[in-house]
Amino acid sequence: MLKPAPAHAFNLEGDGKGKHIIILGAGLAGMTCAYELNKLGYQCTILEARHRTGGRCWSIRNGATNQEIDKPAVIAKFDDGLYFNAGPSRIPHHHELTLHYCKELGVPIQVYNNVNEGAYYFAEGKGPLSNKKIRVREIHNDIRGYMTEMLAKSIDHGGLDSAMTKEDGEKIIAYLQAEGGLDIDKLYKASARRGYTESPGAGDRPGKIAEPHKLADILHSGLMDPDFYNVAEYTYELQMTMFQAVGGMDQIARALEKKVAPSVKMGAEVTSINNLAEGVKITYKDATGVHELSGDMCICTLPLPVLSNVNNNFSGDVSRAIDYISYIQTGKIGLQFKRRFWEEDEHIYGGITHTNNDLTQIFYPSYDYLGKKGILIGYYNFNEKAQKIGALGYADREKFALEKGRLIHPQYDKEFEGSFSVSWHKTKYNLGGWAVYSTETRKTQYPVLLKPDKHVYFAGEHLTYLNAWMAGAFESARSTVAALHARVTEGRASYPAVK
Ligand code: ALA
Repeated sequence: MLKPAPAHAFNLEGDGKGKHIIILGAGLAGMTCAYELNKLGYQCTILEARHRTGGRCWSIRNGATNQEIDKPAVIAKFDDGLYFNAGPSRIPHHHELTLHYCKELGVPIQVYNNVNEGAYYFAEGKGPLSNKKIRVREIHNDIRGYMTEMLAKSIDHGGLDSAMTKEDGEKIIAYLQAEGGLDIDKLYKASARRGYTESPGAGDRPGKIAEPHKLADILHSGLMDPDFYNVAEYTYELQMTMFQAVGGMDQIARALEKKVAPSVKMGAEVTSINNLAEGVKITYKDATGVHELSGDMCICTLPLPVLSNVNNNFSGDVSRAIDYISYIQTGKIGLQFKRRFWEEDEHIYGGITHTNNDLTQIFYPSYDYLGKKGILIGYYNFNEKAQKIGALGYADREKFALEKGRLIHPQYDKEFEGSFSVSWHKTKYNLGGWAVYSTETRKTQYPVLLKPDKHVYFAGEHLTYLNAWMAGAFESARSTVAALHARVTEGRASYPAVK
């Protein structure tokens, strides 16, 4: 007779009895806190500086506006139906809480194609394979083939340090032959796994298998450099299956917004956070002036570089943690094209091309396959590269993305229509991509913000081991809500978010 419990139900007991919780920031963490607290009988107010919710969970479509700190506001001009995700664009299949909320909120998801052996490596430089686009499958299979060949030969010649029985050696060699596609003489030769120069077909068309690149050429072109060579499947979070929200990742934010809309004050920029003997006092400004708001407790989800500039009466330890935890510099550009040439001309359907120049990567869209137009992510870079490109004006970023991108896709020249770029470390109300911990800050600063400073709790991806993922916002929101609720229902003075 009972309905089965949802896999990730948040079964807290007790009543918040209308206590007023002021939540700073209507990103995923802030809205999830309000959504869960409302269910428990709290009264929430979310202060959001922007005129939209979602924070970094933001899809750029026609009419989107952005404000970077040293630039004029810009408006996106894309065709209706087209979008790119300026923030999160992919959901790992093991981020159960993200998927749980998609299900609970009724947000349809679709597969996000993160891995594509048909996309390219492009190495700028002076090597024999430089300045050419090379299919990922060629490089992956050639490197795997040559490395397994070397190892098989050393085992054959007794060249390994470790003692090995003859039988074990034979078994490992058999594995290496299968892994690397070696022939019976344990040599790496051309094979279908790295692709064809002429595709197989009907009748007298057996296809023509391409010759491998020379190992020395791969090596001397930087394609084996550890900071460039890239196998997404080697990274836990990037292993398929990955997902995205249908119609843009911000559909998740929009669905949450629907649940908490009456609690959200938009255009409300927090200017001070004050712990009082009882409760909190938050000051914010909006278009009508400066306001004060009193609450029983506060959950602050502001990104730390933003929070660092907000007046407060936090403890010295908390202030230090806010200042010491670093955020990444990162940026993306969306480029709209008249024609999906990457699909039509090059049979690339989703996935990523990797470059060793400042583009770093080009993402092909995982929606509207075989459609007419499309938006590519023309670069998605980090750290110094993102800093350098982020320092450019919008027009120069576009110029840079087109100049470097056309080396790979000369179709850019004829098909380009318009762009929109976001540099997260320059974006007002973000000032960074996501939290990046060193061993030191993880040990010394991270635990400080897991505890409330009197009546102020902190939440967001930065307070998890899931930095840079929406799952971090959801997990942190739940853990903070649980801590706050335990404090209220158990009548304690304080309760850490993570015990
Ligand atoms: N989660 C971020 C991404 O998917 C880092 O690129």
